[in-house]
Amino acid sequence: MGARKGIQEECQPVSRRAILKASAAMFAAGILPPASAVFAKALERTQDQILGPFYPIMSEPDRSGDLTRVSGGSGRAKGQSIIVRGRVCNPDGKPVSGAEVEIWQANAAGRYAHPDDTNPAPLDPNFQGFGAVTTGPDGFYQFKTIKPLHYPAGSIGIRPAHIHFDVRGRRDVLVTQMYFEGDPYNEKDSFLQSVLNPDALIVKLLPPTAEEPEFMVAVFDIVFRG
Ligand SMILES: [Fe+2]
Repeated sequence: MGARKGIQEECQPVSRRAILKASAAMFAAGILPPASAVFAKALERTQDQILGPFYPIMSEPDRSGDLTRVSGGSGRAKGQSIIVRGRVCNPDGKPVSGAEVEIWQANAAGRYAHPDDTNPAPLDPNFQGFGAVTTGPDGFYQFKTIKPLHYPAGSIGIRPAHIHFDVRGRRDVLVTQMYFEGDPYNEKDSFLQSVLNPDALIVKLLPPTAEEPEFMVAVFDIVFRG
């Protein structure tokens, strides 16, 4: 397999050795508690978001890893094709294997394939909208999908483009949403702005790789207890 754009070999943003070295010096100077206390805060759990009303309970998720095609369909789903990838880690920065990563989302017109979605925007017969993969030993996950559009949500207003995640491990379940940098509705969204650090749920779309020239790339690492 070729290089995975944007993916680090390890989950932790700061190496264990670097933390040890820095914290030992600062502990000696009386600035910091012992390194063990610093490690405990090395990776913050990914912030929770609501499940939302359009979880597709009536269907089974696609397991091909590619939501942009439907068996027997007439082509690729409408919209900007993207690859969403990342690592699932525990707070110690260790990859979580065997985690079930589900995503569901609106299509490129802002419509969910859900009977309760009253948005008159059209469905896309070539878009799955609901997928699941299981992480391997490296905690890696990846989906091919499309960038969703923002959509009207009644009295809440317009929801910015986002992809829902449900991540299940052996002792933790994380439900969250991933947003896109530059969306004009991000700053007004009450759900996104309800978390302590909204920027941590916002991804920047990176240019395509040579291997997948049609797919822009979004890297979204997930931290939960595993
Ligand atoms: Fe949604």
